[in-house]
Parts: sequence; C-alpha cells; structure tokens
Amino acid sequence: MEKLIITGPTPLKGEVHINGAKNAAVAILPATLLFNGICTIDNLPNISDVKISCTILEQLGAKITWNKPNEITIDTRNITTTQAPLDLTSKFRASYYIIGAMLGRMGEIEVGMPGGCKLGARPIDQHIKGFELLGASVSLEKGTIHAKGKHLKGNNIYMDVVSVGATINVMLAAVLAEGTTVIDNAAKEPHIVDVANFLNTMGADIRGAGTDVIKINGVKKLEGNINYSVVPDQIEAGTFMLAAVATRGDLLIKNCITKHLDSVTAKILEIGGNVEDHGDSIRVWCKKRPTKANIKTLPHPGFPTDLQPQMGVVLSLADGTSIINESIWESRFQYTEELNKMGAKITAQGKTAVFEGVPKLYGAPVYSSDLRAGAALIIAGTAANGTTEVYNLEHIDRGYENIEEKFRSIGAKIERVKE
Ligand code: EPZ
Repeated sequence: MEKLIITGPTPLKGEVHINGAKNAAVAILPATLLFNGICTIDNLPNISDVKISCTILEQLGAKITWNKPNEITIDTRNITTTQAPLDLTSKFRASYYIIGAMLGRMGEIEVGMPGGCKLGARPIDQHIKGFELLGASVSLEKGTIHAKGKHLKGNNIYMDVVSVGATINVMLAAVLAEGTTVIDNAAKEPHIVDVANFLNTMGADIRGAGTDVIKINGVKKLEGNINYSVVPDQIEAGTFMLAAVATRGDLLIKNCITKHLDSVTAKILEIGGNVEDHGDSIRVWCKKRPTKANIKTLPHPGFPTDLQPQMGVVLSLADGTSIINESIWESRFQYTEELNKMGAKITAQGKTAVFEGVPKLYGAPVYSSDLRAGAALIIAGTAANGTTEVYNLEHIDRGYENIEEKFRSIGAKIERVKE
C-alpha cells in the first residue's frame, strides 16, 4: 500500500499546469463508439479512470494507440460485442456512458452497475427515464444493466433532477436517434459542453449545451476522423486555487478557462484572497488569514460540489465560523473527521457542516474517503504544522495526474512511499 508523507507548513508558490478534464474525458472516450472510424484525442489526463475507460473500449473491440502520455488514437471500426466487462465497469462511475453510446451504435449493451466515489445513493433513474423515452428497454438484474433499443426515436425529456451523468448519457443516445430530442432541466457543467463540442465536431447536431435546454437533431452517422483536445479541468484548477489560499501562497494556475471558475473566484475574494484573471490562466494569492464564509454547493454555475472538501480546508483555518451546505450528495463530509484529527473544529450533520475556524492545523495520519477528499487532505497536510500521512491514494489517482509531482513543483514537501 502507498501513502503520501507531507511536511508543513509550506506556502505553495509558483506555476502549475492544469490537465484535461477527467469528467469530460470519461464521457468523450465512450462517445467515440458512436463513430465508425478513427479519431485522435489530445489533452487526456493520465489518470486511472481514463486508463480503465480505454481498457473497456478495447474489450468492446476498439483499437487504441497511445501516441504520447496525454494523446490517443482510437479506431472504433471493429466493435464486436455488446457485453461490457462487468468487473471493470464497477470500478468507476462514468462506465454508464457506455450505455448511451452503445445504444446509439449497436442498439444494445449489457454493463455492470457503475461504481465511483461513495457519496451516498447514486441512482441512475434519470438515465433510464431518458433511454426509455427514446424507445429503449432497460432492465436491471444481479448488478447488471441490460439496455436494448434498435431504432431510437427523438423525444422530449424533462429531467426531474439536474444530473450531469443523465444529461450526457441521454445526449449520447440521442445523437443517432431518428428525429429531435429536447433535454429540459439539463445540467450545464463545462464538461457537458465539451462532450457536445466533441460530438458536433464529429458531425452531430447538438445545440444549447451549457444551458438548461439541449436540443439534439438526430443524424444518420458521424463523420469522425478528427483531432480533438479535451477541455481543461475546472475542478483541478479550482483545487489549486484553494490550495493557494489555504497555504497563504501565491500560484499561477495555467491552461484553464477562468470563466468556468467564477463561483470559486467570487468566494476567494469574499474571504479576503486575491485573484488576477488572465483568461487562460489565473493567479491566486492570500497573505493574510481568510475570513469566514458560507457555501452552498449547486449545479454549475453554482459552487461545485467537487470543490467542497477543498473549500472545507480553507474554512477550517478561516477567522470565524463558517457553514457549508452540501446540496448534491448525501454523504460528502467524511473528510471533516480527518481534518478534526488535524485540529480542525468541524461539526458535520447530514448535508450541513459547521466550521469553527482554528489558527493552525497539525500533521496526523489521515485517510482519503473519495477523490476530492483526498485532494483536500493533501492541501491540509501542506498547510499544517508537522507531518501528515495520507492513505487510500487509489481514490486520488483516479482523478489527479502526478499529484505529488505537481505539489512538489510549487514547494510542497511531499513524498509517495510504499508502506
Ligand atoms: C458527476 O457525477 C461527476 N462525476 C461528479 O464528480 C460530480 O460530483 C457530479 O457530477 C455533480 O457535479 C463524473 O462526471 C464522472 P449527477 P454524476 O448525476 O453524474 C442525483 C468527481 O469528484 N441523481 O449530476 O453521478 C444524484 O443522486 C465526481 O469528479 C438522481 O437522483 O452526478 C445527485 O444527488 C464525484 N438520479 C444529483 O442528482 C439520476 O439518475 C447530481 O448527480 C442521476 C443523478
């Protein structure tokens, strides 16, 4: 087993380059199944969720060549089966995108229930509702999802819940359906826009991605043969913005789309941090103790739930008492128990946590419960006095490429060691 050993306190200073977005990449990869040909995808983050996605595609018959660490060429002319590897699909959440893509491509797919971070119940009822409204039949038994629908027809779909996954999945299934599909109450995250851009580059006809109404005019086939670059990762960029504030550092975060980070920028300014927006990079620095703030996580453009734990570290050290209301997931405060081991004073109850700011955190052994909680614990270890050991790195490696190298390049005293 591996762990990270971090010694603090260290103000993080320097420049950090942001990778392509995990939550776009894990949808764009299965989206290639909608096209019968070859395409090249660049700016892929080199993370385990991407590697597992590629393995699943290869087991469906795709041929993948890694041209360089962040670029693949994928050939989907020879898709041979409608049975996805059950063991792999349960390893992460986004495996469910195989359903929308394969309904569009083959009209049938059998796939294991998706896995992913333990954030509470993670139902897929809205995905199924969308597929059924397009004319597919979907059955769930013994942990397997079997979806079938040879000739999907466009329809109007009103999402009962704003869902990133369901919005993308229904979009994938509708691209080659006959007629027009309208997704109402759609999610608006930047990664949804990126998937729509990728599909439109391949010849799809999707309008309105990024708003709450997306219209998809079905096309006969996609053209493909393109080179596409994945959008920069809004959540990775936000992670380092908040790391600069938590450690009283000064970071220039490069290769990001600052517009995607407006809610984070607003909160950083509110608590006394500084932000300089350069369009495709953003400088964040904080020389004094942040003041308290209240946070409510919301679908985009609200404050992202995937930056809630990282913000929790900042508020643990802020002057005053802050409240975070986590409106998306039932159980996303596990990290607060770990921060309390480091001297924080947090009381979490259901979807609300109260942070009584303390002047310092102290190093301790802590356990990552999910991807973003892990990133938060690394930030806390960098800000804390003394030595912190972070365990359960598999969660972190799912979504952050070379996380310790990136932190070390901006001054953190951090080592990955085998237990
Ligand atoms: C995506 O998960 C992200 N994962 C999550 O990021 C992120 O936290 C989440 O969107 C919200 O932004 C990927 O993109 C791979 P949802 P997803 O469907 O699609 C409820 C990370 O750290 N819901 O938008 O699973 C659901 O319970 C990960 O990168 C239904 O009720 O999230 C939740 O309360 C963690 N029925 C809310 O909607 C459904 O059919 C939002 O979920 C689907 C969702």
